[in-house]
Amino acid sequence: MFGARCLLRALRLLRALRSCSSAPCPRHKPSAKLSVRDALGAQNASGERVKVQGWIRSVRSQKEVLFLHVNDGSSLESLQVVADSSFDSRELAFGSSVEVQGHLVKSLSKRQNVELKAEKIEVVGNCDAKDSGFVHIHTPVITSNDCEGAGELFQVTASSKIKVPEENFFNVPVFLTVSGQLHLEVMSGAFTQVFTFGPTFRAENSQSRRHLAEFYMVEAEISFLESLQDLMQVMEGLFKTTTMTVLSNCPEDVELCHKFIAPGQKDRLEHMLKNNFLIISYTEAVEILKQASQNFTFTPEWGADLHTEHEKYLVKHCGDIPVFVINYPLALKPFYMRDNEDSPQHTVAAVDLLVPGVGELFGGSLREERYHFLEQRLARSGLTGAYQWYLDLRQFGSVPHGGFGMGFERYLQCILGIDNIKDVIPFPRFTHSCLL
Ligand code: 4AD
Ligand code: MG
Repeated sequence: MFGARCLLRALRLLRALRSCSSAPCPRHKPSAKLSVRDALGAQNASGERVKVQGWIRSVRSQKEVLFLHVNDGSSLESLQVVADSSFDSRELAFGSSVEVQGHLVKSLSKRQNVELKAEKIEVVGNCDAKDSGFVHIHTPVITSNDCEGAGELFQVTASSKIKVPEENFFNVPVFLTVSGQLHLEVMSGAFTQVFTFGPTFRAENSQSRRHLAEFYMVEAEISFLESLQDLMQVMEGLFKTTTMTVLSNCPEDVELCHKFIAPGQKDRLEHMLKNNFLIISYTEAVEILKQASQNFTFTPEWGADLHTEHEKYLVKHCGDIPVFVINYPLALKPFYMRDNEDSPQHTVAAVDLLVPGVGELFGGSLREERYHFLEQRLARSGLTGAYQWYLDLRQFGSVPHGGFGMGFERYLQCILGIDNIKDVIPFPRFTHSCLL
């Protein structure tokens, strides 16, 4: 299973993929790619040109020379990279992922046999101290809230054989979580940037190719975040960095899928990675759909939800590049999304990322951090009692913030080109089916 470890690592990087050479270098013949383990094991290193990819574990900068320790997970030891001080840059920091090309030579130091004399250092994903440090929070599986407000809940009750003092084990009705977001919002007030990765449950009566009753979701929440633009940058960065990590760590697994299940997917994925994701508003999306020559089962109109057929059309229309759809009608979205205070078409600062083959992969928003706005929204939905604790968060040191969730199985569908979500999880749970 190549999921969790790659994702955690990628979440730490969380920056749009950026390739930038730290110093100019002349063209040379291609270098052989080596793992850190193989590089360290090279017995008679005598200046072979090699390429090593990994994460910076330490940086030591001296007047004339720069030392980096790079690790790719293949060995407990890191490979020492020695570079000219002209390579030094802010981006060569702890946690940044790099591709180093150079000559493998015998080391003068007794601490290692070999070292890599760098000729070229490319930062694949930078990780400066400011944007690293997402804290992993284990949000609960059992909860008393319905974050999304859609009522798609599985209720949890004690088995009737268990004697409990009250009629109800927890005194209040409780459910399997539909999202860890509200708990993450609590924690983002302490740690600024937080994420969770865990099982999520939806009692959706759907047998579709992209719905499960139990799926995994990566969710992130960021304090002091004021624009959808900033949020989308994190989302795009997560998608691209994670995908690059998966491609470099598990090439055989990915190639197997691409070869036998989804021919052409490799090119489609490269197309997604090398292009900047697009951004359209919900209002523009509806206009595009209205002008489409295609007949939809659900007629597109402002105020109605986008269906899978609409989402897939929009992605095709955008040349099969992932597209962010922003600013959805307030009436369509949950109480926590930030009011854009626009008129006559009243919208909230919501964002969905639509991707080829799947449709919606991410859902996110800025959160309503203003006490009185949230108070009114809760009151209008009759939720004031249940969400008093959530409203209280806006009373004591509230800050602008936002976040998103990405369905992990849909992510696998998207990168591997797998048509049915039930084929990317060993034990799929969906309506009328819970085998084993
Ligand atoms: O758009 P959703 O419902 O967003 C939330 O739950 C937010 N509270 C997340 C947040 O802001 N922290 O779900 C997020 C993603 C969807 O875009 C989709 O990829 C996936 O979760 N998803 C499902 N995947 C499989 N089966 C289902 N039934 C899914 N429902 C949502
Ligand atoms: Mg959604």
